[in-house]
Amino acid sequence: MKNTVDVKNLRPATRLIHGGTMRSQFGETSEALFLTQGFVYDSMEAAERRFKNEEPGFVYSRFANPTVAMFEQRMALLEGAESARATATGMAAVAAALMGQLKAGDHVVSSRALFGSCLYIVQELLPRFGVQSTLVDGSDLAAWAAAMRPNTKTVFLESPTNPTLEVYDIAEIAKIAHAGGATLLVDNVFATPLLQSPFELGADCVVYSTTKHIDGQGRCLGGVILASEEFIQTHIANYLRQTGPAMSPFNAWVMLKGMETLSLRVMQQQANAEKIADVLAQSPHIARVIYPGRTDHPQRAIVQKQMSGGGQMIAFEMKAGKAAAFKLANALEVILISNNLGDSKSLITHPSTTTHQRLTEEQRLELGITQGMLRFSVGLEDVQDLIADLQAGLARL
Ligand SMILES: Cc1ncc(COP(=O)(O)O)c(C=O)c1O
Repeated sequence: MKNTVDVKNLRPATRLIHGGTMRSQFGETSEALFLTQGFVYDSMEAAERRFKNEEPGFVYSRFANPTVAMFEQRMALLEGAESARATATGMAAVAAALMGQLKAGDHVVSSRALFGSCLYIVQELLPRFGVQSTLVDGSDLAAWAAAMRPNTKTVFLESPTNPTLEVYDIAEIAKIAHAGGATLLVDNVFATPLLQSPFELGADCVVYSTTKHIDGQGRCLGGVILASEEFIQTHIANYLRQTGPAMSPFNAWVMLKGMETLSLRVMQQQANAEKIADVLAQSPHIARVIYPGRTDHPQRAIVQKQMSGGGQMIAFEMKAGKAAAFKLANALEVILISNNLGDSKSLITHPSTTTHQRLTEEQRLELGITQGMLRFSVGLEDVQDLIADLQAGLARL
């Protein structure tokens, strides 16, 4: 029986459909959902061999599960990584990728523009366990180099950043990290695996919140850690096995189904975002539009060097500040107010009062998060309906 498709030499859209599929004896078309905590053995001897890793097979779904393994393998094939481990959320992936590598006395260098929960881990949680951190302006390569110390073990960034869509030179930062004997960890959520390949730029470990584009339909939380087999075995596998932030098999199944349409969704959302960014840039109510696909993006040269497209996220700043931002978002009828992103539904949020409300106003301004800024995750609706919704909202200001 022709059971699985060998995707090794096939392109990303094909890998997204067929990668990692393990068919059962029934030859099902769609990936099977193994909603089971555990597995049974033919004998006590077989159980002993399985636990001692003397024979292949599953033992307990906190360690590994066939549906989760299919998702991990599909992600690894898409990303070009040797190995992947799925987690319950994106934050579980970030926490494990950092905690798994670090011990008391180590040091982390990170860009200060980070998703709020990532900032909490670097700035508050790790120091409680004796891991110091230095935050730098991610666009300043000299600052990355100056922050390196002999005990720097890992360098961490996201690019494009949430929510200001700054883009950092991953290849140059990888060189700085490696020259100092550190690893580079990249949170590639905003770029998606389709628009940026951090491993080709020198990253040692890549993480995603699969809650975003990989599900892409607002259903499940999830995360994934990708790296070489050696990195996963040395830093990640045992940490996950013993601490337990496993992805549910049900969520892995939803993610597998999400991946089948990832390429179509991201490309259409990006096409919508390109048009919408240009429309927003013409409004007299808007002070600036930040979109990596526009020629006026502050790091345009880096975007062209390391991304194959501008993505589907747009940030823009209302001239009349918070009142205008709230008034516009409240007036929208198709675009919904929500803090998730990468969804097929268009979602708008006000970072300074939601995702980044824990920061002080001074910290927010340092990151460029003003009271007038809105973050827009462009969805899959007809772009003319989205433009009409925004124009109607802007007309009411
Ligand atoms: C850049 C970035 N990293 C990590 C996360 C965390 O993902 P999750 O909500 O799945 O834990 C998010 C979103 O919430 C994010 O935007």
